[in-house]
Amino acid sequence: MKNIYLIGFMGTGKSTVGRLLAEDFKMKFVDTDKMVEEMTGRTIGEIFEESSEAEFRKLETEVLRKITEEKGMIVSTGGGIVVTRGNLDLMKNSGHVFTLIADAHTIHERLKADDTCRPLLEVAEPLDEIKRLLFERAAFYINAHHIIETSDITPREAADQ
Ligand code: S3P
Repeated sequence: MKNIYLIGFMGTGKSTVGRLLAEDFKMKFVDTDKMVEEMTGRTIGEIFEESSEAEFRKLETEVLRKITEEKGMIVSTGGGIVVTRGNLDLMKNSGHVFTLIADAHTIHERLKADDTCRPLLEVAEPLDEIKRLLFERAAFYINAHHIIETSDITPREAADQ
């Protein structure tokens, strides 16, 4: 069984939906952010703060390469994994890639209710930054094998789709 990759912006439900799919299909669940943290012994926040976004992108790509060598996993990815050249193709060539999408306002509301550290959104106007990043990344997100709009559905419904 090929891997199933969940890509998409922060707050679109990749980890929650991924865990549900892993239970449904009795497959192993992995999360690239968690793997980066385990590999480095540092949190995402620390990597961005003490090193840089570029360093984080290198680490998440290293983790992704390892994942693509394995099969049968549900993979939840960090929202920006697609901006590193070649990563989307790596995923498409080693599995089925699903983008979870949501509109900027829904994302903004969901992230306000979530205490996960998201260094890229620690700015004065997070909603504007969400819109800017969504626009910048849209071309990658729409290039997945499948796209699921999650704004008005539950994680369970997204997993069922
Ligand atoms: C990022 C998304 C985060 C995490 C990091 C950068 C991004 O993951 O990888 O903060 O660039 O969109 P989630 O999408 O799981 O929040």
